[in-house]
Order: sequence, then C-alpha cells, then structure tokens
Amino acid sequence: MHPVTEDPSRPTAFVLAAGLGTRMRSRTCKVLHTAAGKPLLSLVLETVAAAGADPVVVLSRESEAARAVVPEGARVALQEPPLGTGDAVRVALDAAPHAAGRCYVVYGDTVLLRPETLRRLAALLDERRAVLAILTGIVGTDNAYGRIVRGPGGDVDRIVEVRLATAAEKAIPESNFGAYAAAVDWLRSAVPRLRANETGEVFLTDLVAVAKREGRTVAALCVEDPSEGLGINTRADLAVADGILRRRIRAGHMERGVTFVDPDSSLVDASVEIAPDVTVERGSVLEGRTRIGTGTRVGPYAIVRDTVVGERCRVEASVLEGATLEDDVRIGPYSHLRPGAYLERGVEMGNFGEVKASRLGPGTKMHHFSYVGDASVGRGVNIGAGTITLNYDGIRKNRTEIGDDAFIGSDTLLRAPVKVGRGATTGAGAVVTKDVPEDTVAVGMPARAIKKLVRPKKDGGQKPSA
Ligand code: UD1
Ligand code: CA
Repeated sequence: MHPVTEDPSRPTAFVLAAGLGTRMRSRTCKVLHTAAGKPLLSLVLETVAAAGADPVVVLSRESEAARAVVPEGARVALQEPPLGTGDAVRVALDAAPHAAGRCYVVYGDTVLLRPETLRRLAALLDERRAVLAILTGIVGTDNAYGRIVRGPGGDVDRIVEVRLATAAEKAIPESNFGAYAAAVDWLRSAVPRLRANETGEVFLTDLVAVAKREGRTVAALCVEDPSEGLGINTRADLAVADGILRRRIRAGHMERGVTFVDPDSSLVDASVEIAPDVTVERGSVLEGRTRIGTGTRVGPYAIVRDTVVGERCRVEASVLEGATLEDDVRIGPYSHLRPGAYLERGVEMGNFGEVKASRLGPGTKMHHFSYVGDASVGRGVNIGAGTITLNYDGIRKNRTEIGDDAFIGSDTLLRAPVKVGRGATTGAGAVVTKDVPEDTVAVGMPARAIKKLVRPKKDGGQKPSA
C-alpha cells in the first residue's frame, strides 16, 4: 500500500464506509467482511492506492472497527450518524481541507473496481472538462442500482435510485456503478446544496442534477465489465464478488507462469504469492500470507495457510498452517503442520504426521502416524511409525531434543523434557523418560540403556528408512 503523503499532485480518494450494512444481517460491519481473504475495505484501499490516490476513509460509530484495516497515517473522517452517501462526502471534504484538483469518490463495498478504471474516469473528467465523471454499466433491470437517466443529447441528466424510480425509470438497463471522479473545488460548492430526500437520506447521486442545473458537464464512462460495479450489499453479493475476485487472482497467477489443474476447484487468497512453475492441483486452498516457491506441486486437496513453502516441494492432501518448509520437502498425504513447524531441506513427512512448534533437520524422515511437538530434531533422523513427543504434562509444555542421525523406533513415547543423543537408537515401544546418551540403544518401559553403539564412520550414520 502506498504510504500516505500530503503530495498535492496526488488526487484524494474519498472512501465511503460509514453505512450500516443492514442487508448483511451481521454483527460485523460490512466492510470488514472478506472477499478472497481480505476485508472489503482493504481491497478498495488497495485499488485506490494502485490508482495513485491518497485515501480519506469515512467511518461511523457502527463501522469504527474498520479503522483497524486503515493504513497508519491515512485520514479517517467520522460520519455520525450516517445520513447518506452525500452526507458522507460532506464529512470527508471537511476532513481534507487541503485537497485540491481532482478527487475520486468510491464506496467501501465495491471491491471489483479496477485501478485503471479510476484512472480512465479521471482522464474523462479532464477530456470533457467536466465537474463530475460517473461510472456506469449495462446490467439489466433486476437489481438495486441507481438508474442513469440520459437527456435527449445523450448526456446524463440525473441518477434515480430504484427506491424512488418510476416504472419507466426502473426499466433503464444502464446503472450507476458508484465510482466518481470530480473537481474538488466544485464538489466543495455542490455538496452543501444536496438536500435530504423523502427517504430522509442525502444522496450523493443527486449531484448529477445539481451540476446540470448549473449548466456544468457531467461525463459518464460506461464500463465493459459489469462486475466492476458490483456493490456488496448482501451475503449473496459477497459470494459472487469472492468468486469473481478469485477467478481474477487465478488468471493473474496463470499469466505469471503458474499451472492450475482444474482452476475453478482451487481457492487462492489475494495475499498469496506463488512463483512461476508451481503446479496447483485440484481442490487446493491457499490462504493468508502463504508463499510457494518455484517447482513446487501443491495438492490435490491441500490447505496451506500462512505458510512458506520452498522450491521443488511436494505437498499432497495435507493441512499446513503457520509452517515453514525449506526446499525439496515432501509432505503428505494426510499430514498436519501447525504453527511454528520448521522443516529443513529434504524433510519427508507421510500420512498422519503432525508437527507443531518444532524444527526438523535436513533429510529427517517421519513417514507414518507420529506427533512431534515442541521439539528440535536434528538432521538425518528417522522417526519411526507411531512416535509421540509427550510435550504436555498437564501444566506446561516441555521440549524434546533429538540429535542428528538418531533412530527413533516405532511407537516410541518421548516424555518431555527429554533428550535423545546424537546417533542414539530407541527400541520399538520404548517409553523414554530419561535422556538417552549419544550412540546408545535404549529399550523398554521406561526405557533403559542396554548397550553402546559403534557408529559407522563414512556418512554420519545413515539408517534404513522405517
Ligand atoms: C449506491 C448508490 C447507487 C449505486 C450503488 C452502486 C447512492 C445514493 N446510491 O447505492 O446509485 O447504484 O451504490 O453500488 O449513493 N455510506 C456511508 N455513509 C452513509 C451511507 C452509505 O459512508 O451515510 C457508504 C456505505 O458504507 C457504502 C457506500 O457508502 O460503502 C454505499 O452505500 P450503500 O448504502 O451500499 O448504497 P447503495 O444503496 O448500494
Ligand atoms: Ca452498496
């Protein structure tokens, strides 16, 4: 996001987000609902920043919580009570006394608007020497958008809200998409002249009639892609917007060299980064601050959340959250990585393994049914089927340490805090309650050391896979 400046050459964008969002039927204010994993307001603020404008966000007591997603330093104006979109712009102008030149007005619920469309609106404003340029689209008549009433010359005369429209006006297929470019000076003079109508609200859309009465030019840009106007009023609108946004996100990744097998079956959040030559197989969900390195294959059916995945990894039908994978790591099927799992290069994890707040060293293998929590595991360790770190004693979490090249026999229970030394071996079913020294075999319940091992010299003791 662009840092907030007071650069007078940058247009101001008034972002209206004070409305009550009643139609969402939610305790959460509308602009904090998410599409493609981001709050609606954040998406709009990103669009505005990409169009080169500095935002002034209008909030109300009801939408005050949305302040949390307003970038630091950006101006917020409080509209209390929210008396309509025209009233919101009045409040916004008061909060930006130095704004001059051109400005934008956008709604906090219109997340599919593209930055280049805003720029086109501004260009049209200049070209037509207009005081106001409005965005319209042809979307049929089965909707709640304001209708664009054009005069005999083809210019826009006024916008009429559906609530107040006659049957003939409702039948106009051209609608108000709710994005505007305006001359700030004119806006300052015109907004105070808006009056509340019979609904009790002050409509921004009445600005068109105000301009026409003064003999000013109002330009209209009828945009080709009808999705750009989608204002999210209901949960159904939210679902539609989310779907369109995610389709755009996948298309963008494909353009940059990512393969999607059955693209519509996978969901990628707006915040996810994917390198070229990644393959996303069917049914994968990539969320939050996830990053995927080149050559990696994800899915089918993987959920990857806030996780960094290195290059040439393979992640199949598993759930990864808050984890880090270095290069050449293989996960799944049916593994679960939880926050703080750090898997170094070449680690392999098979079915029904869970790792939490633990580091697994290079080349360590954990192929079947194991839980490793609050542990540090060295390089080249073999974790046998059914191994469990008993990290929780009912009061606190305790750590387990396993040294390089250790061989943890199947069904070993490691009662933390405990250390298994470098090159040590535990027998099948061992219950390890005391530290096992280096290069030592420990068996039984509780496990006791029975003999000293002689380590092979060459490669640091590679053991056969479990
Ligand atoms: C508005 C337009 C309509 C257009 C549609 C496009 C008006 C009067 N109508 O209708 O012509 O077709 O958007 O999506 O502008 N808000 C405030 N303060 C208020 C009221 C609203 O900040 O007092 C904010 C809301 O939070 C919202 C935005 O303005 O983000 C639009 O308000 P909303 O009530 O959704 O307007 P619509 O009825 O959708
Ligand atoms: Ca709306």
